[in-house]
Formats: sequence, structure tokens, C-alpha cells
Amino acid sequence: MRIGVYPGSFDPATLGHLDIIRRASKLFDKLIVAAMVNGEKRSSFTMEEKVDFLKRMTCDLPNVEVESFSGLLADYVKEKQACAIVKGLRAVSDFEYEFQMALANKKLNADVDTVFLMTEQKYLFLSSTIVRDIARHGGDITGFVSEEIRDDIMNKLDQAK
Ligand code: PNS
Repeated sequence: MRIGVYPGSFDPATLGHLDIIRRASKLFDKLIVAAMVNGEKRSSFTMEEKVDFLKRMTCDLPNVEVESFSGLLADYVKEKQACAIVKGLRAVSDFEYEFQMALANKKLNADVDTVFLMTEQKYLFLSSTIVRDIARHGGDITGFVSEEIRDDIMNKLDQAK
């Protein structure tokens, strides 16, 4: 069985993430979406919230599983016997950081490769940071995140509420 791992901060997951999940789920027998800790970023949502959002967004995708993990990605991938890490790339600006992480993960676990999926053009502008910023100011995040989780994001972040 070919298993892929799609890791990320997902703070919160966006429609751009969902697009990568849908497309990657067709490339593997099983895709594990792993909510993880990025030591460089402070999270607005708890791990439980992130996992709950991701599960609700992906409930129509039978070969997608959602988990959280707080250790090293390279160890997690080994434990799950996955053959690849999946990452989405939006622009050249993502590349340097992603390239660095892919090489570090390869060094830590020589058996695993990172595969990159290019974002769909319509999601080029989208990021969790932008979603959080719009939500905090009471803006409309329809079309940025799944309908299923939109109200929960607004309830948590909208400072005007
Ligand atoms: O969505 P992000 O913030 O780009 O995801 C980054 C993430 C969470 C995948 C990365 O920070 C990570 O792999 N964290 C787990 C700890 C780890 O393995 N760090 C070394 C990466 S080379």
C-alpha cells in the first residue's frame, strides 16, 4: 500500500489545503493529513480544533485520515511506513523554505521523498495567515475556507463578536 503524508500547521486549513488533499488523495492508496507543530509559528487554533476542522472538511474522501503529531516529521513518516511527504507550493517565495525542509527530512530519513503539488491558480493568494487576518477584522472568509468550518473560525477569531 502506498501511503503519503501531508503535514502542515493548518492554522486553520484553507480551501488551498483542501485542493492539495483532494489531488494528493488520488496519488496514494492512503493519505494521512498530519497537523503538526511548526516551531516558528504561534498557533491560533488548538491541535484538537485543527484536527476537527480537517476531519469535517475531508469526510467525503474515504482514503484520507487526519491525525496530529508533535514530534519530528521524519520519524512520523517512518512510523507510518509512508513513501512520500506531500507539500503544496504556491509561489517561488515558498520554494526556498520547502526545499530546505525537504533536504533536511531526506537527511533524517533517506527512504522518504518530498513531492510538491503546485497550487491551483485560483488559490495562489490564499494562506492561513490571510484567513486569520480577515476573520479577526470581521471580514467575509467565504471562498477561503470550507463552509463546514467557516462559522467556527469566525466565532473564535472575530474580535467584533
Ligand atoms: O504548514 P507549515 O507551517 O508550512 O508546516 C510546517 C511543518 C509543520 C510541516 C514543519 O514545521 C514540520 O515538519 N514540523 C514538525 C517538526 C519537524 O520535523 N521539524 C523539522 C523539519 S525539517
